[in-house]
Amino acid sequence: MHRRIIAPGVLAAASLLLAIPASAASYSPGAPGIGDPYYPYYGNGGYDVSHYDLRLRYQPKTDELQGTATILAKTTQDLSSFDLDFLLDVSEVRVNGAKAAFTHSQQHELVITPKTPLAKGTPVTVVVRYSGVPSTKSAYGFNTWHRTPDGAVAADEPEAAWWWFPSNDHPSDKATYDVSVAVPDGTQAISNGTLQSTASQRGWTRYSWRQNKPQATYLSTLAIGKFDITTSTSEGGVPVVNAYSKDLGDNDGAARASVERTGEIVDWLSDYFGPYPFSSAGGYVPNTTTGYALETQSRVYYSPKQFAKGSNVSVVVHELAHQWYGDDVSLKKWKDIWLNEGFATYAQWLWSEHEGEGTTQELADYVYASHPADDPFWTVEPGDPGADKQFDDAVYDRGALAIQALRKEVGDDAFFAILKGWPKEHAYGNASVADFQRYAEKVSGKPLAALFGTWLFQPSKPAASAGRAASLVKAGTAVAQPKSWKKIEAAHGGHSDGAAR
Ligand code: TRP
Ligand code: ZN
Repeated sequence: MHRRIIAPGVLAAASLLLAIPASAASYSPGAPGIGDPYYPYYGNGGYDVSHYDLRLRYQPKTDELQGTATILAKTTQDLSSFDLDFLLDVSEVRVNGAKAAFTHSQQHELVITPKTPLAKGTPVTVVVRYSGVPSTKSAYGFNTWHRTPDGAVAADEPEAAWWWFPSNDHPSDKATYDVSVAVPDGTQAISNGTLQSTASQRGWTRYSWRQNKPQATYLSTLAIGKFDITTSTSEGGVPVVNAYSKDLGDNDGAARASVERTGEIVDWLSDYFGPYPFSSAGGYVPNTTTGYALETQSRVYYSPKQFAKGSNVSVVVHELAHQWYGDDVSLKKWKDIWLNEGFATYAQWLWSEHEGEGTTQELADYVYASHPADDPFWTVEPGDPGADKQFDDAVYDRGALAIQALRKEVGDDAFFAILKGWPKEHAYGNASVADFQRYAEKVSGKPLAALFGTWLFQPSKPAASAGRAASLVKAGTAVAQPKSWKKIEAAHGGHSDGAAR
């Protein structure tokens, strides 16, 4: 320990410290990131959120968003300050009712210093009042808030929340949501879960949505615009709410012919994955210029482009499969992305077989044979692809191939038991690729380290012997492209399609 002369200023500071608890020495700032190596500043340390209450007002003409976020959390360490991830302009922050100091720092950190430090393990209520024009804000040089001719949409991965609500922005901290949005009469606001109420007053209509099951921040969505909203109930009893922008033009019919299959697909997937995990299902198609779809919880986001070549039920299967694989069971770290994309793609393979457009085996053969050994495709490890390759084709296609290889290894009975048991094992929680391997070993009774190593973690094409073990047609042999292939590929995300962020 350093000895030094105590200056008067230090004495004054020391006496100020007397105002806080005796153990104050242990109080420290929460980390600016939750500890995900792919995205060091995403999420934050020191607390866990249980609920977000977002009361918003949005003016489509000017893109002005105003809001009050009330966040219920619990501290996980003694905190002198903590961060939220957020980009809009903040006018006031209260912590447990008292005004708190705050400042913006780094790319998207809102640093909050409460009047009184927060002891570990205590409940905290944070109120953030804010406003701003989301389309004018960026972090790391990008903006994922999508303006439409009559409104805007928040739906992107892995970052979307910064533009509309302050959060602990990482899938490992899931929470329930009440999202209430006032918009000018004649405009609708869509979000996750069930519509609890609508009320109109002095030219503004307020839409109040509730998500009563834990939800990751990137799966929270908001869409404002002029929509046609349809409601129904699936044969299996799941309420379905879909919404279509009124200006989809030539894509309108194909969009509806795909997304109106939601109830049927939810029931079909339930046979493989178990009961649908949320209190409602559905999707929405706003008039955005992006090219992708996103598995926003219980209310899937679809780009009109997904339907530019006609209906695409395969993409609906992909996004609804994520409701179990990704939303109900969310990843622990972004490197676990295979648990999302591999399984959502495999669901498309099952659907292809169901539709008579190519069996899972034919699709696996095609992936294996159509990428020669020197194709960089095989350098991507789906089990830990790296941040820049997180949504590479290999995560989807090699990822689904790995699942077919697992099926061959454990046999159909164990395989389908794993597929259905996994969402139950980790319902509303988080899990890793290593957790999945352990679970598959438990259910099948087989050691699977070598199989996972080969198909998920080897940076080169698995050898012919591994291919034979997975009953794959050998490389170099011409394998016809399954009929379903192009529609399956259309569900791939990322920004490789050139879609604007
Ligand atoms: N997860 C999305 C899907 O599988 C795809 C996706 C990847 C994506 N990266 C994205 C969507 C970025 C939107 C933005 O459907
Ligand atoms: Zn996906």
